[in-house]
Amino acid sequence: MTAGRLAGKIAIVTGSGGGIGRGCALMFARQGAMVMGCDIRPDAAQETLDLAAREGLPMESLHPCDLTAPADVQRLINATIARFGRIDILVNAGAFGAFAFIEEMDFDSHWRRTLSGELDVVFLACKAAWPHLKQNGGAIINFASANAYMALPGSGALAHCAGKGGVLAMTRQLAMEGGAYKIRANTISPGMTLTDATAPVLEQPGFKENVLDRMMIKQIGMPEDIAWCAVYLASDESRWVTAADISVDGGATAL
Ligand SMILES: NC(=O)c1ccc[n+]([C@@H]2O[C@H](COP(=O)([O-])OP(=O)(O)OC[C@H]3O[C@@H](n4cnc5c(N)ncnc54)[C@H](O)[C@@H]3O)[C@@H](O)[C@H]2O)c1
Repeated sequence: MTAGRLAGKIAIVTGSGGGIGRGCALMFARQGAMVMGCDIRPDAAQETLDLAAREGLPMESLHPCDLTAPADVQRLINATIARFGRIDILVNAGAFGAFAFIEEMDFDSHWRRTLSGELDVVFLACKAAWPHLKQNGGAIINFASANAYMALPGSGALAHCAGKGGVLAMTRQLAMEGGAYKIRANTISPGMTLTDATAPVLEQPGFKENVLDRMMIKQIGMPEDIAWCAVYLASDESRWVTAADISVDGGATAL
């Protein structure tokens, strides 16, 4: 494992209690970044801090922090600046999506909650971090999804598809607005990755087989598979990469 690819960089990783956020937070710390995590679930965020401490990696976290609440997001940015003095990297891994087919999809508890949990969280964090990213340039990493490109039979992902298509499009726009300030903005589009969010669905009879059937590499992804891509997009190795979307999905969207 190559260490030091993010040496000296200050990174905010939202949703650090979740699968991909935790994977990124730990991987970033191993690569030398100073990480500020956050999550709405304090126990999960604390567990990530404990895992980091067990490896001897310093890490900070603000929890609970509700990324749909502008005041909480501002608290996160303020805490990062107070602790580290600047922000170089923003990884927006915190998200919530509700799944249902259109006939069962409720306007408030499914549709609006998903659009807020997948789009507002990205907008609010980018907006609050922007003045700090502008100072020295920086990297924003957002998560779209294979669902931004394809509909998976058997999955009630209507709101999620809208949310992730939105993340893909808004990240392109952020990259355009950030170019003059050397703010790079990119998305990763993961395929089915084993996390707290997906573990119960993958247990449903036939679902995993259905997913694997659509992959070139017949394997469910792990958070580390996504985190390695995030390390690249956060590092200076990708200094000329912006407005890009990288599929990390075992080939699912190309099949
Ligand atoms: N796991 C997959 O298969 C997969 C596939 C494609 C895209 N993605 C995307 O990757 C990102 C991470 O997904 P994951 O699978 O790790 O999910 P996850 O549910 O394991 O983690 C998300 C974390 O965000 C936190 N969170 C939710 N709402 C929040 C809020 N309002 N404020 C603060 N924290 C909040 C949750 O508590 C959780 O810890 C998401 O954007 C997801 O849509 C995941």
